[in-house]
Amino acid sequence: MKQFTCVQDIGDLKSALAEAFEIKKNRFKFVELGRNKTLMMIFFNSSLRTRLSTQKAATNLGMNVIVLDINQGAWKLETERGVIMDGDKPEHLLEAIPVMGCYCDIIGIRSFARFESKEFDYQETILNQFIQYSGKPVFSMEAATRHPLQSFADLITIEEYKKTPRPKVVLTWAPHPRPLPQAVPNSFAEWMNATDYDFLITHPEGYELDPQFVDNAKVEYDQMKAFEGADFIYAKSWAAYTGDNYGRVLSTDRNWTVSKRQMDVTNNAFFMHCLPVRRNMIVTDDVIESPQSIVIPEAANREISATVVLKRMLEQIP
Ligand code: CP
Repeated sequence: MKQFTCVQDIGDLKSALAEAFEIKKNRFKFVELGRNKTLMMIFFNSSLRTRLSTQKAATNLGMNVIVLDINQGAWKLETERGVIMDGDKPEHLLEAIPVMGCYCDIIGIRSFARFESKEFDYQETILNQFIQYSGKPVFSMEAATRHPLQSFADLITIEEYKKTPRPKVVLTWAPHPRPLPQAVPNSFAEWMNATDYDFLITHPEGYELDPQFVDNAKVEYDQMKAFEGADFIYAKSWAAYTGDNYGRVLSTDRNWTVSKRQMDVTNNAFFMHCLPVRRNMIVTDDVIESPQSIVIPEAANREISATVVLKRMLEQIP
């Protein structure tokens, strides 16, 4: 695997899941694979789970790890070509990327949507520059439009907890005071659409996701109706995608906050969220603390998804 940015990059999901469960049984089984190999993790944005789980995954494989927080201690980077660099950014990403590539064998990037330009975000400008100019295998640690390590961990978690071969999985929008990128819901939809689960998305009107991610998923604007008989509820807030509303908060309606009222009409559904989560905005205390909440095992599986991805990349390095 030379890059991991979307569901297609992982190939056959059944094989990927089998590999994940093999690693989960013995996460140090491939510790020799990464000897004398270096992972560089580059963060343009904050992280708790991705930072820790990916570093742990690299350690499982015997790798060395370098972590660079671009906004803390590194030179400020210009990302646009053609800019006269007379401002506060002394280095251009187009020099910085190949330099960073000199010091490592694999690169992980976190670079969120900026909501300044839909085109810049949805073309994955930053991620693609790393793929093009680093000369190294590159994986996404959440980019502008997708968060594949999270979605893979979500899939592993659903496979572990599902009670029927084809569970009903509902992705629900939830309110949040700030505009959040669509990367997690886009990616979750993309991965769920690649399974044979009964997958449905619910959100208020105006929060439609990019059709390439919705694909064949059912969309239901009535959240209570969507939750009926669900086996898994996956909550996430996101900002509007469509038209001039790109990057805007259109609603903070707390009727959409996941509470006992909605969970009561499900098939005793498991509650999932990628975290971090704002309690009593996205989900009530009692739901996230209930026995049906699997947010912690879901976060734990981030180590497993990252180990599979790094293992596959290491296997391609001569
Ligand atoms: N879910 C997730 O990616 O968490 P962090 O933002 O803390 O890495």
